[in-house]
Amino acid sequence: MNDRMTTPWGELALARHPEDPRERLRAWDASDAYLLRHLAEQGTPLSGTVVVLGDRWGALVTALARHRPTQITDSWLGQEATRANLARNGVEPGSVRLLTTQDPPPERIDVLLVRVPKSLALLEDQLLRLAPSVHADTVVVGTGMVKEIHTSTLQLFERILGPTRTSLAQQKARLILCAPDPSLERPVNPWPYGYDLPEDIGPLSGRPVVNHAGVFCADRLDIGTRFFLRHLPETRGARRVVDLGCGNGIVGTAVALADPQVEVLFTDESYQAVASAEATYRANGVPGHAEFRVGDGLAGVPDGSVDVVLNNPPFHSHQATTDATAWRMFTGARRALRPGGELWVVGNRHLGYHVKLRRLFGNSQLVAGDPKFVVLKAVKRG
Ligand SMILES: C[S@@+](CC[C@H](N)C(=O)[O-])C[C@H]1O[C@@H](n2cnc3c(N)ncnc32)[C@H](O)[C@@H]1O
Repeated sequence: MNDRMTTPWGELALARHPEDPRERLRAWDASDAYLLRHLAEQGTPLSGTVVVLGDRWGALVTALARHRPTQITDSWLGQEATRANLARNGVEPGSVRLLTTQDPPPERIDVLLVRVPKSLALLEDQLLRLAPSVHADTVVVGTGMVKEIHTSTLQLFERILGPTRTSLAQQKARLILCAPDPSLERPVNPWPYGYDLPEDIGPLSGRPVVNHAGVFCADRLDIGTRFFLRHLPETRGARRVVDLGCGNGIVGTAVALADPQVEVLFTDESYQAVASAEATYRANGVPGHAEFRVGDGLAGVPDGSVDVVLNNPPFHSHQATTDATAWRMFTGARRALRPGGELWVVGNRHLGYHVKLRRLFGNSQLVAGDPKFVVLKAVKRG
């Protein structure tokens, strides 16, 4: 959906990435609009290094492009949307510096604008990474929908940056106003977080997993993933396996440990996830080859080049429930698989993935099920 946002810096045409005519989700919300209104009304000096953390689809940096902001995001899709939105609004691409959550942050930050992320852990990690670049005169303003800002969110700003208060709510959005105190003794960054997996989960039993902040189920083994680990395919004879939406890389690492002959491609749209997958893989000293790639599903993977795709699809996109990503992942898997290749999917039983698989592949087999989860297999027919 291509929609328009009115800002004090002009009207913007904005869209998510990839653009999907059936998707009715906007590329900005009331919290983006509130933050921009606040900056204009307060006459906030937007000089020096302006950093925008967590800008979802690039609305904030597109509006503020003339102030040459730096965007920091964990999302490859968010970064692509930003590039497209800058172009859509005639902004020269060099006006905005695009960094990821894995890049070293700017050395000095004069204005820090934070679109509060869904993950409190990611906020904690990023504020701790940015704090040394913040000084007593840095303007710090956060924004988010009321339902996304909790006492724990404000406590993070308080503990890491300095005294914090919130604004009145407007259109169900709220601002976080923080006065940095560089003398504050900051906590040690607990991220990345590593722990040893439980026993009885196959090749990875008792082995280490590494999680960067914000990764899916970063502090414990997800029960769906656990179910998947107990029912992974025998990959003998397979050359190339994809861990699609790899998160911390447990699934692909388990396959690589069981069969060192296979080459695993770990891919995810989150920079934190791909970094975690690589760290998990390395921590387990797996022999063999692996590739780590940030991107949208299987985009860029050649047609017919893959033997097995393993997938635990996401069903949320920034708070909104959507199955668009799962559908795109399954479609991409069908294209990337060789004839006879297999897509293995784990999901909540109620999500009904077998219907989608049957529509796309013409078949779907139940490999395993319990009252909550199913593991399904679809074979690409020649
Ligand atoms: C339910 S988690 C599964 C993580 C891991 N495979 C596991 O089973 O623990 C889904 C993963 O898909 C990733 N993801 C979401 N959208 C994606 C996309 N368009 N392309 C690739 N990965 C995506 C998320 O970042 C997340 O890591």
